[in-house]
Amino acid sequence: MELPIYLIGYMGAGKTTVGRLLAEKLGWAFVDLDDAFAEINGITVEDFIRRYGVEAFRRREKDCVEKLSELPIQRVIYATGGGYPCWEDNMECLKELGTSIYLRWNSRHLAHRIELSGTEHRPILRNRHGQELLEFVEWQMSGREEFYKQADIIIDAPLGELAEDNDEQIAQHLYQLIKNNR
Ligand code: S3P
Repeated sequence: MELPIYLIGYMGAGKTTVGRLLAEKLGWAFVDLDDAFAEINGITVEDFIRRYGVEAFRRREKDCVEKLSELPIQRVIYATGGGYPCWEDNMECLKELGTSIYLRWNSRHLAHRIELSGTEHRPILRNRHGQELLEFVEWQMSGREEFYKQADIIIDAPLGELAEDNDEQIAQHLYQLIKNNR
């Protein structure tokens, strides 16, 4: 399995943290696509969405993933933006470009993890908190899940109580899975 790996899932799923940890374990490169977007476009995702809206962002985001996929980079893990797989044919594109892995959490855990990391830098969530945040996550997940579920691999996050080392556990689990499939 030397094709690029695309980590997908909702905001707060740990795509960036797990991606970094996994890349370290495998000795692969890691690219956060929100950061790559900012570098390529000279504006952060947050500012771009605030200024031009989500629709314009999705177009640019799509171009950005396509551009990067044309570079001759081997052994790379990408953390995609949470909404990327749910737009147009993006999920199909990801599946053609590499191995997609869905980090699946239930909405309650996602909302909790988002609260911990803060919503102020997440324009889509517009500073929602508590019950309002949970209901919004549930609503978005009900539309997004059908796309996420098409991933080549689905990793279920721990179902028990949340712990600080959840992301490390997930990265370790993925590492073993990838190692055993080589
Ligand atoms: C988004 C998720 C964000 C970012 C943008 C939109 C979404 O990325 O791309 O704010 O629609 O879920 P992360 O999932 O990395 O936070």
